[in-house]
Order: sequence, then structure tokens, then C-alpha cells
Amino acid sequence: MKQPKEIRPAGGKLGVLLPGFGAVATTFVAGVEAVRRGLAKPIGSLTQMNTIRLGKRTEGRAPLIKDFVPLAELDDLVFGAWDPIPDDGYESALKAGVLHKERHLDPIKDFLASIKPMPAVFDTDYVKKLDGPNKKSGATKKELAEQLRDDIRRFKEEEGCDRLVMVWCGSTEVYIRPGEVHASVEAFEKGLEENHPDIAPSQIYAYAAIMEGVPYANGAPNLAADCAALEALAKERGVPIAGKDFKTGQTLMKTILAPGFKTRMLGLEGWFSTNILGNRDGEVLDDPASFKTKEVSKLGVLEHILQPDMYPDLYGNIYHKVRINYYPPRGDNKEGWDNIDIFGWMGYPMQIKVDFLCRDSILAAPIVLDLALFLDLAARAGMDGIQEWLSFYFKSPQVAPGLYPEHDIFIQHWKLKNTLRWMKGEEMITHLGVEYYD
Ligand SMILES: NC(=O)c1ccc[n+]([C@@H]2O[C@H](COP(=O)([O-])OP(=O)(O)OC[C@H]3O[C@@H](n4cnc5c(N)ncnc54)[C@H](O)[C@@H]3O)[C@@H](O)[C@H]2O)c1
Repeated sequence: MKQPKEIRPAGGKLGVLLPGFGAVATTFVAGVEAVRRGLAKPIGSLTQMNTIRLGKRTEGRAPLIKDFVPLAELDDLVFGAWDPIPDDGYESALKAGVLHKERHLDPIKDFLASIKPMPAVFDTDYVKKLDGPNKKSGATKKELAEQLRDDIRRFKEEEGCDRLVMVWCGSTEVYIRPGEVHASVEAFEKGLEENHPDIAPSQIYAYAAIMEGVPYANGAPNLAADCAALEALAKERGVPIAGKDFKTGQTLMKTILAPGFKTRMLGLEGWFSTNILGNRDGEVLDDPASFKTKEVSKLGVLEHILQPDMYPDLYGNIYHKVRINYYPPRGDNKEGWDNIDIFGWMGYPMQIKVDFLCRDSILAAPIVLDLALFLDLAARAGMDGIQEWLSFYFKSPQVAPGLYPEHDIFIQHWKLKNTLRWMKGEEMITHLGVEYYD
């Protein structure tokens, strides 16, 4: 990827398109509006709250990221969505039960109710536990992709947007392995025309977005743009893409704790993770085929962080188990337990227990915002294809073929900030610091 010579300014409106208008998407949209009206703070968002150090520690230069790189302003964001369930933003947010009705939803009811999801490309073969009437129909998947492309163009025109981005906030689809149909653009387009069963709805959205020059991020673990065909298409059309699966809750904790054990060369014998959650996402994940997609996404993390091949004595024999249990009374307020069996000097065992009473969508919403703003920035900087510097936000970071994903959240954070410095022609920060002692 070439270093950007210039970054186009972020003038005009940025349309954020959301396939899936459930808990995460409505919490994100409501939060942006609450921040715009001065009712809340954008906590958890790097683009809104984080600073970035520039130059030497002695220079005292640490602007906010949003003052360092040209990002779209929150006031310039407009939102569009698709969902098979026709609920508007207010009804959907109420059902999701994440945000407080009187305190946070009612004051912005008009705004939320004005966002009505467009008919979705949806098929119960790929998400078995839910259905709704707000769907498109078409003889082929190619036709459905064309209908999505029409929606994208119409939305841009009607809302007067300068630019668009798309962030998949739809349900986790059934597990599909990348196959022949995903191997090249030609095979993929033929597959769309022939209704190939291995092309899931999320991939039809990803295809439509890339064809329309719209940057695409995938918040769920299903393949979507994570295949050779769509990666090649994104490069061909100069579109940035990123994925997969928002890093929230338990995996966030895992990628914070595991690098800590490894930096201290402490061994790991086993890591048992179990969750109870009762939202719609939990219901979808109650289906074994959707859970399989999530499980694969969650399990890869430890292996890549701990590198058992390089440290067989410490990590060569880990028992790693992940469970998700659908438990309706808990709603969106998930509880995630981790039992971690570690060992230290001379092999003496120790245990760590984590009980995270978390709010999934509260952790995911700022990720949607940052991805939308950073992908738009990448597009204006002329960066295309996989944006690995955004792996900070994902459980299963999408990387170039042949590379293993970097899961350590601290390395990911460092990479993200160094990429911003690189984009602006600032010096990289290596933390070497010998010059302070000359
Ligand atoms: N909440 C988190 O912290 C978190 C973390 C990582 C990943 N995710 C993933 O993000 C996604 C959204 O999570 P959520 O909690 O908002 O779930 P949700 O069930 O509340 O919302 C998902 C919505 O997507 C819609 N949908 C499904 N297929 C669609 C399609 N083909 N087109 C358009 N809409 C479609 C559903 O009708 C539903 O309204 C899920 O895949 C989830 O696994 C969530």
C-alpha cells in the first residue's frame, strides 16, 4: 500500500449504511444523536476521545485523533439501514432493551422513528432463528445485488451524501467455508447469477457496496468480504474493507489478558469461557450453525496470541472451550465467566476467574462509529483493500493471504496509531527512547 500523498478533506455528509438494524445498530445511531444533542459522551470511541502522541516525549504534542486526521464530524453523519423486521429505529431500540427508554430513547424519539429499514436481502437458510416480512425478492442473487445497488444510489441522492460507508450489523449467519465460488471475482459473479448456495446475504451486501465504491466493514463473524473474490474486487475498485466480528465482551478481555501472560512467560493450561445472554443475537446463536461461525471466530484468538509452536512448554497443550447460552431473562446484559488455569515458576498452578457483567451493544456501538469514520478516512487517503490497521476492532482480523492475524490488543492499538502517523507523514513511534539518555 502506498503512503498517501494527500488526504481529501471530509466535507459534506457521510451516509452510514447498516445492514441489520437491531441492538448494536440502534445503540450506535441513538448514541451518535445523543452526543450531537449534548445528552451523552462518546465513551469508548477512539475517534472522539483518544489522543495521539507525535514526535518526542519532550515535545508535548498530543492532539486528539480527530484533530490530527480529517474525520467526518458527527453532525455530518446520516443513517440508512436494511432489516427484514420492519421496525423503525425507535421501535427496534425499545425491543433491543439496551438504552433507557425515558432517559435516552424518548428524548430522541422523532429522530429514531424517522429511520425506517429498507427491505433486506434475507434468507432463513442463512439465519434460521428469525424472519420478517421486510424482504426483497428476485430471481437471482445477482438481481438482489442490483436492487441493493439501487438502494445505495437512491439513499446517497435523497440524503445529499458526499460519501458513504457500510458496516454490517446483521445477525451471524451459518458457517460457510470459503470455496471455489469465493476464489475469484468471475466465479463469484457467476455464482450470483446461478444462485450458488455458498453466497450468503452478507456477501451480497458486501459485493453491492464494493461495486458502488462504498467502504465495507463486517461486524459479524460470517465470511462477507473475507474471501479472495471480494478482496480482489475491493482492490480493483479502490475500496477499503475490514472485518470480522466486533471485538467486545469476553474476547476483548481475552485479548487484554492473554498478551499479559505471554509477556511474563506464564504458562496456560486451560481457558474455559461461558456466556449467558438473552438478546436477539443470543437467540440466533442458539442455532448450532450460527454458533459454529461464532465459535471459530472466538477460538482463534488464543492460539495466535500465545504462539504454541514457539512456546510448547508454556502453551503447547491448552484446553480452550467457549460456550454461549441463550438465557432470555438476561436480555442484552450478558454475563461472561472465564476460568483461566495458568502456571508459573516450576510449573506451580494458579487460577484466575473473570466475571464480566457486560453490555454487549454498549461495547460495540463505539466500534461501529470508529470503523465508519476510519474507513471513510482510508477511502479519502486512497487506501484500498484490507485495512489491517483496523484489526484493533475485530475478533477475527482480516489479513492478507499468508499472514497470521495479530490479536494482541496492544500491538493492534500501536499499529492503528502508527498507521495514522504514517498517513500524515509523521515519525513512527517505536518506544526505543535511547535519545533521551545521550
Ligand atoms: N453486540 C456485540 O457486542 C457484538 C459483538 C460482536 C459481534 N456482534 C455481531 O453483530 C451483529 C449484530 O448484533 P446485535 O446484537 O445487534 O443483533 P440483533 O439480533 O439485535 O440485530 C441483528 C439484526 O440483523 C437483522 N438481519 C439479519 N440478517 C439480515 C440481512 N440479511 N439483512 C439485513 N438485516 C439482517 C436481524 O433482523 C436483526 O434485526 C450480530 O451478528 C452479532 O453476532 C455483536
